[in-house]
Amino acid sequence: MTMNPVYEKLNRCYESIREKIPFAPEVALILGSGLGDYADGFAEEGTIDYHEIEGFPVSTVPGHKGRFIFTHVEGVPVVMMQGRVHYYEGYPMSDVVLPTRLMKLMGAKVLFLTNAAGGVNYDFSAGDFMMIKDQISCFVPSPLLGPNAEELGPRFADMSHIYDETLQQKIRDSAAEMGIQIQEGVYLQLTGPAYESPAEVRMCRILGADAVGMSTACEAVAANHMGYKICGISCISNLACGMTEQPLSHKEVQETADRVAPLFKELVTKTIKKIGQR
Ligand code: HPA
Repeated sequence: MTMNPVYEKLNRCYESIREKIPFAPEVALILGSGLGDYADGFAEEGTIDYHEIEGFPVSTVPGHKGRFIFTHVEGVPVVMMQGRVHYYEGYPMSDVVLPTRLMKLMGAKVLFLTNAAGGVNYDFSAGDFMMIKDQISCFVPSPLLGPNAEELGPRFADMSHIYDETLQQKIRDSAAEMGIQIQEGVYLQLTGPAYESPAEVRMCRILGADAVGMSTACEAVAANHMGYKICGISCISNLACGMTEQPLSHKEVQETADRVAPLFKELVTKTIKKIGQR
């Protein structure tokens, strides 16, 4: 029998890490901008650099580390991705979502997505957090294109509840405990790497998006296909282009993400604790 090449590559990666670490995570956490050093607060129980895994996509963004970190957060076994690869770096979608799929094979049941995103909704401010309720991923190629790997999920995956309601409530409860307002909305993924034009931002708003970014939705599609429970939080690092007088820069995005990082970390930690309590 000829194996699906995507599934075959995934399995090869899995075999190569299985030998290195037997850790069985419950939660897979993808660290977005601002959360890059989230893992520093926890005792590492193992790490695997992406380049140690043969054929694994390695991020090309300057300053982005690329490794899996295995640790416990509030007693919950977690695998963190410090550094993700983006579609705009030139990788095929099947490689972009490979790490997400791999963490499911390691044993993760919950995928916790984080990112920095541009606010499209005029009610949002830079530095806000947005819990992702739903998404628009159809501006980027689906990671499910090509022969379906039946081992992973069905050909025609249901996307009616990508973001798990119970997990959403845990995020709301965590924000309430912290005494912070949390926005809720729809995340729309574009390819990037350029930021949007003002007309594109208007388009996103008309289509029902509240935030726009260059990651996350494709990972959620692949994860939902595999049967993960998913939740996600965007750090609104800026209002999207054309909504303010300021031109946009990666520096501004990074600075805002860094400024609210302590709150972001607390929100993530509290939510993971609740995930552990079920
Ligand atoms: N647009 C797209 N991606 C982003 C933005 C933005 O304004 N800010 C952070 N990531």
